[in-house]
Amino acid sequence: MPRQPSPTKRAEELRDAIRRHNDLYFGKDSPEISDAEYDELVRELRALEAEHPGIAGDSLLDLPGAASSTTFAPVVHAVPMTSLDNAMDEAELGAWGERVAKGLEGEVARYVCELKIDGLAVSIRYENGVFVQAATRGDGRTGEDVTANVATIASLPTTLTGAPAVLEVRGEVYMPVAAFEKFRADRETENAERAAAGRAPLAVPVNPRNAGAGSLRQKDASVTAARELSLWCYQLGEVIGGPDFSSHHETLEWMGSLGFPVNPEIRTVDTLTEVAEFCASARERRGDLGYEIDGAVVKVDDLAQRGRLGFTSRAPRWAIAFKFPPEEKTTLLRDIQVSIGRTGRATPFALLEPVFVGGSTVSMATLHNRDQVALKDVRPGDTVVVRKAGDVIPEVVGPVLSKRPKKCAPWVFPETCPCPNQSVLVKADDEADTRCVEPSCPFQRDQRIVHFASRGAMDIEGLGDKTVFALSDAALVADAGDLYSLTVEHLLALDGFAEVSAQNLVASIAASRSRPLPKLLVALGIKHLGPAAGEALAGHFGTLDAIAAADSEALSSVEGVGGVIAASITDWFTRAENIGIIDKLRSAGVDFGVVVTSDLPQNLVGRAIVVTGSLEGYSREEAEAAIKSRGGKSPGSVSAKTYAVVVGAEPGASKLTKAEQLGIPVLDEKGFEHLLATGALP
Ligand code: IVH
Repeated sequence: MPRQPSPTKRAEELRDAIRRHNDLYFGKDSPEISDAEYDELVRELRALEAEHPGIAGDSLLDLPGAASSTTFAPVVHAVPMTSLDNAMDEAELGAWGERVAKGLEGEVARYVCELKIDGLAVSIRYENGVFVQAATRGDGRTGEDVTANVATIASLPTTLTGAPAVLEVRGEVYMPVAAFEKFRADRETENAERAAAGRAPLAVPVNPRNAGAGSLRQKDASVTAARELSLWCYQLGEVIGGPDFSSHHETLEWMGSLGFPVNPEIRTVDTLTEVAEFCASARERRGDLGYEIDGAVVKVDDLAQRGRLGFTSRAPRWAIAFKFPPEEKTTLLRDIQVSIGRTGRATPFALLEPVFVGGSTVSMATLHNRDQVALKDVRPGDTVVVRKAGDVIPEVVGPVLSKRPKKCAPWVFPETCPCPNQSVLVKADDEADTRCVEPSCPFQRDQRIVHFASRGAMDIEGLGDKTVFALSDAALVADAGDLYSLTVEHLLALDGFAEVSAQNLVASIAASRSRPLPKLLVALGIKHLGPAAGEALAGHFGTLDAIAAADSEALSSVEGVGGVIAASITDWFTRAENIGIIDKLRSAGVDFGVVVTSDLPQNLVGRAIVVTGSLEGYSREEAEAAIKSRGGKSPGSVSAKTYAVVVGAEPGASKLTKAEQLGIPVLDEKGFEHLLATGALP
């Protein structure tokens, strides 16, 4: 069984992950994980911090979002914009109800149920009835000034009659689904035109939330204006000189009477059973609203009761967000086909009647492998349930058996590869995957080229799968080595290429010749060789030729390169077709790395020395170079194989903890100098 990390270490990993995802979500509007997965990280950290009070680190969980980006002027919120705690199911909703009842010492509460709009929170300020400022939530205390952008929202009143001296209204800016679909379609048309003109494509938004957030945070507000954003208001911020209210529902009615858009789907109820009914009904209708919601928000109605319940360090005790599980839709399964990957893996996928689910239109979904199709028993012609796994990747949940047509035969995995060679597909008994094992399969070959050009490999801009297929169909490339012989004339003969786009692609292929060795190693598509092993091998051997010449033993002696990777590398370099590619790459002048030479004593050969924190006499690069030029290695993490850890100011806590746990010598800068000079520990 794998060892469990210590609570301190796990908490640190979780904080790192949460910070990173905060930045992706709030700072860059490009989340990599679903809200549900993010919430899970936060919950785990909270549970750890509650269980081990000693490890509560910084106040990360007090912050609902990311720190403000520097692009817009900062706005300090007069009243902080807190986040909400989540309930994932009815039991958690019930537990919140009990906490409320306890906090109110048994006094009965009424609840206001609202939709949880999936957009971007803003605080909109009016002074003497005039709209003066709008800000994003940012980190809850300081947001960004998006006044000019919010001013473009048609439903926002610019002047109010009968308004108090200061009025802050809070709500959610969102992009309606229809506006999103239009925006997406326009983007795709624009990108086709840009491609023909040789210009880089613009980002195509993945869902209305990201499209809305991206549109709001535009430097040029006329861009925002063209995007048709909308707003629902749901809360008051700072109010000076306004009427006295005793309940939240009165504040909503008042906002409505002043002309603010307040969502019509709001209910004030007396019991948690009614709250649960509201949540269930909202979930059922979520696909028909015309805007995206990701749950319901339940708030205690009585403002005096709210005052007594107060806030935790991060959220009000008087409100809770009830989060929906991923949205599901039904659609027609038109067909099941098989795609061939670069290693020959045959992956069945569903071709669907396009359906809008989880924030975007889905027309294809992976079915993973033969067993999964059999298990789900989905058949072409079936009506199937579709959802987004982790809110991102479309997934076929299963068939709706009551809607199965009479003549609907079970799907049979094809026996041959869909490529023109039609080689036999093979499934080993102990493997879940079915494969095309014919190395000359043109579909595999094309995918190997696509992989070679991809972002994590040689990063050839403008060389996506469609272009690779076109080049391959025109017999212009048979492997990655052929890319470097392509000319503008070759490309002009293909559909979709104009002079500029052809020149650009030839230039980006040429530019890829100087990619660093670890990228080239990944690009070659050697089984099991990923970026970490690529870095380790390049750091140790210096050149592709040295790696090709090394035997399995030498390769596996490198930290981070196990026997399986080593065997796969030696096998790869024995194959004639691969040697052919290497020769073409060499002739094309692709950078194969440099031999590391040094006059210094090679007193650290085979030793891994980790550097953490900042040293006075060396930058991080200089310290690592000093180790490597003496034959040593300087990996980024501590393991049992680490010889010593050099610690400067503000070291990484996880590295230190790990060194302590494993009993690895820890050196200060003086100790490091001794080690460099003598090859021995002080
Ligand atoms: S009330 C102190 N009401 O959900 C109360 N928030 O996960 C603050 N949201 O930051 C929020 N619909 O961006 C509230 N009807 C609604 C909402 C709503 C969406 C967002 C808002 C908030 C986040 C919390």
